[in-house]
Amino acid sequence: MANSIEAARGGGRRSLFITFEGVEGSGKTTQMNMLHAHLLRMKVDVIATHEPGGTRIGEEIRRILLDPSFKEMHPMTETVLYAADRAQHFYEVIKPALDRGKVVLCDRYIDSTLAYQGVARRIGMEGVQNLNEWVTDDHYPDVTFLLEIPFRVGLKRLMERKRVLDRIESEAQAFHEQVQEAYKTLAKFFPHRFVILNGVDKPENIHHQVMQVVTPLLS
Ligand code: TMP
Repeated sequence: MANSIEAARGGGRRSLFITFEGVEGSGKTTQMNMLHAHLLRMKVDVIATHEPGGTRIGEEIRRILLDPSFKEMHPMTETVLYAADRAQHFYEVIKPALDRGKVVLCDRYIDSTLAYQGVARRIGMEGVQNLNEWVTDDHYPDVTFLLEIPFRVGLKRLMERKRVLDRIESEAQAFHEQVQEAYKTLAKFFPHRFVILNGVDKPENIHHQVMQVVTPLLS
């Protein structure tokens, strides 16, 4: 598993790859934006990006993936499209930034595909892991913040924000509960990089916890 901190130490650079994960409405995007703003104030060389999307090609793939009218999309097609989006994003945005020693913040990455497609869509963890390690040259994040939130709280937040749900958001409650459980399993599987945060807590409190983890990694 390639690790950008280790690579950076070897090469004298200080890159850092941080991802944010969680079910819909968990507050991960808010936390990523708060961290991004904080690091910019600290004059850290940082970029914030997201999946699916984050590139011109990726935004097209995102549109196909989330279009609620594509009800016939096979789970395998869905899995491969998320991987295609990730390949483009990794080689166009993430890798060049890490190679220049930047801090990269990413809203969703490999763990989303492991949880949503690997578990909830029943594609299987091994296949999804192999495919995604292949398309990212084995590049995992240094730190993954997992925002945990009860399904109903997340759904309430989502409904307040959006009038029309996308193809994945409109899946049944059982699907989202499986995603939630899968994230817990992933956190146990990758304890060295997962940090679990209570998504129900006040955003400022969660941000404080995020900074407690990130600050020592910057020096
Ligand atoms: P977003 O709403 O966080 O931008 O994510 C879009 C949707 O795509 C969200 O419902 C989660 C889903 N998703 C997957 O199912 N697999 C993936 O690999 C990624 C990155 C997102």
